[in-house]
Amino acid sequence: MKTSPAQALLAGLLPSVAAQSCPDYSSYAKTRHEPFSSGKHAHASMRPAPACRTFNSSTVESLLTNTTAAIADPDLARLFQNTYPNTLDTAIRWRGHTASNPSEELAFIITGDIDAMWLRDSANQLLSYLPLLEPDAAPNNPDSIASLYRGVINLQARYLLTSPFCNSFQPPAESGIPPTTNPAASGDTVFPAYDSAKVFECKYELDSLASFLELSAAYYEATHDAAFFGKFSWLDAVQALLTTTKAMTAGTYADDGTVLKSPYTFTRQTTRATETLANDGAGSPVRKTGMVRSAFRPSDDAVLFQFLVPSNMLFAEALARAGLIVAELEQGEKAPKGLAEDMAAFSKGVREAVTKHGIVPVLSKNGTGVETVYAYEVDGFGAAGLMDDANVPSLLAAPVYGYLANVDAVYQRTRARVLSAEGNPYFMAGSVISAVGGPHAGPGMAWPMASVVRILTSDDDDEIVRVLRELVGSTDGLGLMHESVNSNNASQWTRQWFSWANGLFGQMILDLHLRKPHILQQSFQ
Ligand SMILES: *[C@@H]1O[C@H](CO)[C@@H](O)[C@H](O)[C@H]1NC(C)=O
Ligand SMILES: *[C@@H]1O[C@H](CO)[C@@H](O)[C@H](O)[C@H]1NC(C)=O
Ligand SMILES: *[C@@H]1O[C@H](CO)[C@@H](O)[C@H](O)[C@H]1NC(C)=O
Ligand SMILES: *[C@@H]1O[C@H](CO)[C@@H](O)[C@H](O)[C@H]1NC(C)=O
Repeated sequence: MKTSPAQALLAGLLPSVAAQSCPDYSSYAKTRHEPFSSGKHAHASMRPAPACRTFNSSTVESLLTNTTAAIADPDLARLFQNTYPNTLDTAIRWRGHTASNPSEELAFIITGDIDAMWLRDSANQLLSYLPLLEPDAAPNNPDSIASLYRGVINLQARYLLTSPFCNSFQPPAESGIPPTTNPAASGDTVFPAYDSAKVFECKYELDSLASFLELSAAYYEATHDAAFFGKFSWLDAVQALLTTTKAMTAGTYADDGTVLKSPYTFTRQTTRATETLANDGAGSPVRKTGMVRSAFRPSDDAVLFQFLVPSNMLFAEALARAGLIVAELEQGEKAPKGLAEDMAAFSKGVREAVTKHGIVPVLSKNGTGVETVYAYEVDGFGAAGLMDDANVPSLLAAPVYGYLANVDAVYQRTRARVLSAEGNPYFMAGSVISAVGGPHAGPGMAWPMASVVRILTSDDDDEIVRVLRELVGSTDGLGLMHESVNSNNASQWTRQWFSWANGLFGQMILDLHLRKPHILQQSFQ
């Protein structure tokens, strides 16, 4: 006997209508969906159908409508509509509460096509919605952006307490989502050891830890909800983070020449030099400077020299800001005495070390003089890597994460250098798009994310319009930000689903709307 679809549904024989009709976004984002925008780029419509979106926010919809009305160019407007809500539309994989404490919210946010949560990516994905973060009108409103922030901060705190050296994690047990096997990591040898049912990958990246502090500070500054940070495991996570980062200020040798055991080592069976570390996993030697070592970059590529300057800049800044949360908790006797002072002192020490060791002399362009710039990486012995990498934190993005102002003279010289093919081995010049790239996608591949950061750090209308025009014209008609694009051929790109870059593009449009609304009135045809 035949059953009708409705009967089958009732009998539980078919998945729910929504689940059945919702496409996998990694396939969805590879093809162009109608209606197309009316400009020459004919950008596709890439938002999933409302029933398939992973988080609904009426405030975001209202902001989308209002901002779109301020954009004259139809292709730019479509790009904004597709990109800004992308994390909410596609990447909120699961939300719930801690099994042992039903008042502790949790949110598991994926970067895109893998069921794993990166500390840095998830923090940055939420930071795109910072302009909409406000205190909950009713306590613990599950529909608010604030609830998402709390959920991510709580889950990140759990991750930091589980394995503070790791960068990417498995779904929480409460979600019922099974852990994903990471084939790349199956041959990794990592110290300290970790549990692959909880950790997806264990690359020690200073910016991952800094991102937790940055997200926490952003939530506190926007909501003044200090009490939240005293309720669950946030303070314990901060202390674990401090223990880890302090251990990673150590040099390679003791005063008497003894080799000190590295607090972290990582080796991988791989054919890519950027996926493993020298010296049996300890990395190239470093001399103590006051900066914190990082084994990997925000691109998940290995460093050349372990004092990664932009990660230290972000860390110093975020540590100082998060210290103010602890100071408020201390006043209510909710935090250990002296912790806030310790964080402030550590932050100051890192900042001083960045200035002392991270600023290096280079031959000026005319070849006769010497000028100073920020190096990307140093080792404390005098070696410096002069380059920038597209991922945030980068040197280019230093004003975006608040380490310095874009008018800073050393920053301005550094910026000119990293945005030139002569001064940065990873600047990709081309006829389609010219932008910073990096070893992750390789030479020739420019990163749209770096173009977005270039706009966010520029006051020059001509520069902003030129770079924005390249972004509008380099999406291969898909109307989304790709990870990287061949600087001479827009149909060659990597990652169709990269939520963070999408959110950052939207953030930049909101910034232009406030700072330079006349630019949004221009044509990009
Ligand atoms: C978002 O709203 C749509 C209706 O417009 C609904 O079908 C969908 O389930 C909602 N998504 C979530 C995660 O609540
Ligand atoms: C959008 O504009 C309307 C009308 O001016 C305003 O009421 C609303 O608050 C705006 N939405 C956002 C998110 O700014
Ligand atoms: C070369 O550049 C340096 C540093 O920017 C500057 O001090 C010097 O005056 C320049 N020399 C000439 C000949 O332009
Ligand atoms: C651009 O890349 C596409 C896809 O690889 C290729 O088919 C096309 O020939 C390339 N165009 C040029 C001008 O090289």
